[in-house]
Amino acid sequence: MSDWLIWLIPIFKAGHIFGLIVWCGGLIGMSLMLALHDPAVSQVDYHRIRRATHLTYTLAVTPAAVLTVIAGTWLIFMRGTFFPWFYAKLFFVMLLVSAHIWIGEVLVSVADSAGRKRPPHPWLPIAAILVPATFILFLVLAKPDLGWLAFPDWLQEPLDADFPLDVPRL
Ligand code: HEM
Repeated sequence: MSDWLIWLIPIFKAGHIFGLIVWCGGLIGMSLMLALHDPAVSQVDYHRIRRATHLTYTLAVTPAAVLTVIAGTWLIFMRGTFFPWFYAKLFFVMLLVSAHIWIGEVLVSVADSAGRKRPPHPWLPIAAILVPATFILFLVLAKPDLGWLAFPDWLQEPLDADFPLDVPRL
């Protein structure tokens, strides 16, 4: 690998870690902010909480998620992390992304329902974030040998199958 790519690794890793702190921390903060969406509070307060939650999701948490994923994707090739622990990590990243989407959906549905829909108890979204985040941190920091996780043969060798459609020839 060329020198400048090696030099870039700590920069991408710092971006990755900064992104995931804002992402996961922001999602936990959002879970608590959503719980404040209570029709009993005054209209002015409701508007303030609603606006802060919306801005946190769109301007901080989602861009941080994108930064984490982009920096992480570059790191795959820079660090050559083609190991079972890494594929297991991606499974938990998928769960974290699902929690992110769910929290966004709760945000929109609570705002659009004029007080009819109540947000879930904050422990529910917080658990949906902390459980995958803990597994991810364990996998990436301990890098356990998951060699026993056997992939099926058809996933490990070329099948010489044709595309089910015509590929234009150049
Ligand atoms: C699509 C999403 C992600 C991808 C593609 C990705 C990929 C990577 C890669 C390739 C590395 C370098 C590993 C190494 O140098 O050995 C890394 C490091 C790291 N990742 Fe991720 N990651 C993603 C999401 C996350 C998330 C959501 C978390 C935490 C909740 C996380 C936590 C970390 C940590 C703490 C490191 C530093 C580990 C070390 O240097 O030993 N990553 N990531």
